[in-house]
Amino acid sequence: MKVMVTEMEEGVKDNGASTPKSRVTNQCRVLLSMRLLQVLFLFLVLTFGISVVSIHMIKFLKIQHLDPVAPTTLISMYGRGTVTLDSFIRPPSNVWHTMNDSELLWRASMEPQRNGYPFKRVPKLAFMFLSKGPLPFAPLWERFFQGYEGLYSIYVHALPYYKSDFSRSSVFYRRYIPSQAVAWGEMSMGDAERRLLANALLDISNEWFILLSESCIPLQYPIPILVNMFFAYGR
Ligand SMILES: *[C@@H]1O[C@H](CO)[C@@H](O)[C@H](O)[C@H]1NC(C)=O
Repeated sequence: MKVMVTEMEEGVKDNGASTPKSRVTNQCRVLLSMRLLQVLFLFLVLTFGISVVSIHMIKFLKIQHLDPVAPTTLISMYGRGTVTLDSFIRPPSNVWHTMNDSELLWRASMEPQRNGYPFKRVPKLAFMFLSKGPLPFAPLWERFFQGYEGLYSIYVHALPYYKSDFSRSSVFYRRYIPSQAVAWGEMSMGDAERRLLANALLDISNEWFILLSESCIPLQYPIPILVNMFFAYGR
């Protein structure tokens, strides 16, 4: 603009001198159109710059705001995407878990607030063995439980370092719960019993809870008779 103004001033001065009026206006027009072109070019460059910046901004914002609600995150929160009743009522095939005592007791304290069940529930007897580790009468117990799958569940609390070697076909296979050290006649015995009970309560079908030691042996009553006795007594 400054250039144009000086030129115009010159023109005015010139005008005062001998230069014709038309020449000055022609110069002005050329200068004006060149300015206009410059401004247009600047505008074009600016628009291009803004569009490039906004494309990058959109990408950036997408990453910032869309990622936390991405479908993969939701799926990982709710397992395979659907919550089924089965996932609440089916007992795990392996009683091992990673909950500590306070988490376990909290989880075990949950109970339904409605009467009746919207599925077929077969009440079970929970046999809870408090043992140092080995179960010397395991063969007798195997015979006792044989043929009554679905009517009982077994939980064994052993010393933490004990590794059981029951075969896959045994009723005691993978029935050892996460345990802690227990000393005879001390409060840790009570804690172990509570731990056994809490683990048994995780299975909604368990209704009667029988605490046993490794030296207990089963007598003549088969499980169905025991179940009937318990439920008759319960009524
Ligand atoms: C169990 O774990 C929770 C969470 O990690 C912790 O806050 C709590 O103190 C733990 N309880 C025990 C008894 O270790």
